[in-house]
Amino acid sequence: MIKVLTIDDEDIFRENISAFLEDNDYHVIQSDNGEDGLERFKKTAPDIVLCDLKMPKMDGFQVLEAIVRQAPETPIIMISGTGAIHDVIESLRLGAWDYILKPIYDMGALEHALGKALERSRLIRENRRHREHLEEEVKKRTQEIQERTNELQMANRQLNSEINERKAAESQLKNSLNSLEKTIAGTISTISLIVEMRDPYTGGHQRHVAQLSQAIAQEMGFSDEQLKGIYYAGLIHDIGKLAVPIEILVKPGPISEIENMMIRTHPQAGWEILKEIEFPWPIAEIALQHHERLDGSGYPHGLSGDDILPESRIVAVADVVESMMFHRPYRASLGLEVAMEEISANRGQLYDAGVVDTCIRLFREKDFHFDSEEQTLDEIFSSFSDR
Ligand SMILES: [Fe+2]
Repeated sequence: MIKVLTIDDEDIFRENISAFLEDNDYHVIQSDNGEDGLERFKKTAPDIVLCDLKMPKMDGFQVLEAIVRQAPETPIIMISGTGAIHDVIESLRLGAWDYILKPIYDMGALEHALGKALERSRLIRENRRHREHLEEEVKKRTQEIQERTNELQMANRQLNSEINERKAAESQLKNSLNSLEKTIAGTISTISLIVEMRDPYTGGHQRHVAQLSQAIAQEMGFSDEQLKGIYYAGLIHDIGKLAVPIEILVKPGPISEIENMMIRTHPQAGWEILKEIEFPWPIAEIALQHHERLDGSGYPHGLSGDDILPESRIVAVADVVESMMFHRPYRASLGLEVAMEEISANRGQLYDAGVVDTCIRLFREKDFHFDSEEQTLDEIFSSFSDR
């Protein structure tokens, strides 16, 4: 039921409109002066107020101002007998919703004014509720977005710090790998130097074999890591010759059966020397197998076919070619053509066919030649780390 507060000092008029409104299902609260009217307004919170303008103590303008201040959404209709235009204007300026003149001949007009004000009030409230709801939604969404943004920013920060940590770890790892690799290169170079100091022929031979083996492996598409292993293995593949008396190694002319047997111990001796060193490549195995032959006719173990490491098959061919191309204490150089003939004739039998083909292609088409200058350790190392 709609609550109407009617404030008017004219008892008969007030009673009349109250009776009419109650007949029309309104609940009416009456007050005969401004002060009391405001009190009742606060206590009852009516849906609409009808207020007289001219009243003792507190006039309608004052009541109007107080109500507009307290509850701007409550419709208030001014009722007055003066009809003076400035009263009407002042009432509307202060926030009255409508203005009705006394006496009221047509109560229907009063009800119409009430209905119009109540409808407008309802729309305003609805509009406010709608707006508040929207504002609430916007606030909620904004908060959600803010929270999500915070989460993302935090995740991003975390990710960045993880990336930085990982980069630092990678760089540390790279540094220690570099230093490890330098250590390995240093070790190998030192071993190679020991061989060379004792036996310059073998020293130079090992450098050449390393160079040719690496070139063959590169041409055959071996990985950079494998290339390093093959190069280093080539550089010390004859280390086992340390176990062979130097007189036999540098002896000019033919050697005896016994001497030959002693020389043939060097792959096994090389293995014994190298097997305990933890290289990242099968260097000890390559040294052990570099005199094995594809058909099983090699030594020390008579391995054949795939039992021989691919790296060993490469070093084997490079070893034979280099030996024939250069002078040895026991014979003069045989030259490139004889070397090429030797590996061609035994292609697929003693020597790996792919390795032989690649080696021939390197000399015939790719203008391969041995570096006569001795490479320093730094040059050897940087030739790999530059890749
Ligand atoms: Fe050898």
